[in-house]
Formats: sequence, C-alpha cells, structure tokens
Amino acid sequence: MIIKSAVFTVSNTKISKLPAPDMPEYAFIGRSNVGKSSLINMITGVKGLAKTSQKPGKTQLINHFLINESWYIVDLPGYGYAKSSKSNRLEWAKFIRHYLDKRENLQCVFVLIDSRLEPQKIDIEFCCSLGERGIPFILVFTKADKQNRSKSAQAMEQFKKALLAYFEEVPQMILTSAENGTGKDEVLTLVDDINQR
Ligand code: GTP
Ligand code: MG
Repeated sequence: MIIKSAVFTVSNTKISKLPAPDMPEYAFIGRSNVGKSSLINMITGVKGLAKTSQKPGKTQLINHFLINESWYIVDLPGYGYAKSSKSNRLEWAKFIRHYLDKRENLQCVFVLIDSRLEPQKIDIEFCCSLGERGIPFILVFTKADKQNRSKSAQAMEQFKKALLAYFEEVPQMILTSAENGTGKDEVLTLVDDINQR
C-alpha cells in the first residue's frame, strides 16, 4: 500500500466524541516510550504527525489519524509509566479499556514490544487481557536499529515462548525500526489484507 495522505483528525478521552466508526481502524499500544508515535510517523512517512518524546508519558489521549481517506490509525497513551499518579493510571485503564471494548470498527491492535528487552510481565498481561476479551492483535517489536538482527530474533522467540504459556498459538510478529524503516511494508501489507476482507 502507498500512503497518499495521513491527516490528524481528533484527540479524545471521550468515547462518545470519537470519529464515526465507518472506516476500519488500527490502534497502536504498548508501554510508555516503546515507540508507538514514532512508528506511526515512520509508517505514514509524515514526520511529526504523532507527537513523540524521549520522556515516557507523552501521548495522553486517543489520537485519530485518517489514512488515504479510508482507514484510521490510532495512537494511544502508553501503559506502565511508573511516574503517573495512581489515579491517573486508573483513569488510563478506564478510558482505554472502554475504547478497546467498544470500538466496533477496530480491526486489530498492534501491541508494541521493545525488541531489546526480555519478555516483560506487563506486556504479557496486556496480551492476555486482549486475548480474554477476544480482541485481535499482532505483535510489533520496536527499535530494531538499536541492536543486531540475531538479538532481536532472540527477543521475539523469547516473547513467543512466554506467550505460549497462555495462548495456543501466537499472533503474527513484525520487527520494526522507526529509525530506518524496517517493517513498514509488512505492517502496511497486513492492513491492506484486512481492509480488503
Ligand atoms: P508515549 O507516548 O510516552 O507512550 O511513548 P511512545 O511509545 O509513543 O514513544 P515515542 O514514539 O514517543 O518514542 C520514545 C523515544 O524512543 C523517542 O526518543 C524516540 O525517538 C525513540 N524511538 C522510537 N522508536 C525508535 C526506533 O525505532 N529506533 C530508535 N533508535 N529510537 C526510537
Ligand atoms: Mg506516544
């Protein structure tokens, strides 16, 4: 797929104010600072479309971007940011959970995992919560440029093993880098396939 247009539409915490659910939608989620917003910019080819930061906790709202006037990318706040206050974290859990459960045009959630880390409990738990709620997801490993391929392959294999303790099959996995474009075609091909179903 070629991206011809990528336009910011709206930011929200209110489910009632989201765009009409009349086009397929793909949400990006993962721990704070894992690289969700950067990956969205890489995939769309529009620098600065989604706001990024070196500091975790940058994205605070549900952000919709309309792609090729026919589908949405959604940038979500990260989870697991230790510095946000407890009430903040609960608030996060509430509106994101609500979004994930209620959004009828949500086709698939991209769960981002830092390719440099061993399997993190919080990521496994989040995958399990999606599984329990029957929300389709795929795993996107980020920051591949920061290490060699065999290290990333090893991290992906370890994550797969960890998930197999809870799932019969593991979802598709894609290795990406917002820095050098690794994985862009794979992500867009997947979206294309689902959009055409
Ligand atoms: P929150 O919105 O705070 O949850 O974070 P996020 O997941 O959206 O992360 P963001 O895209 O803001 O990136 C966090 C930091 O990681 C920034 O300093 C990015 O430049 C850096 N980063 C993200 N992706 C990559 C990547 O693929 N390679 C490298 N080298 N750095 C990356
Ligand atoms: Mg972000």
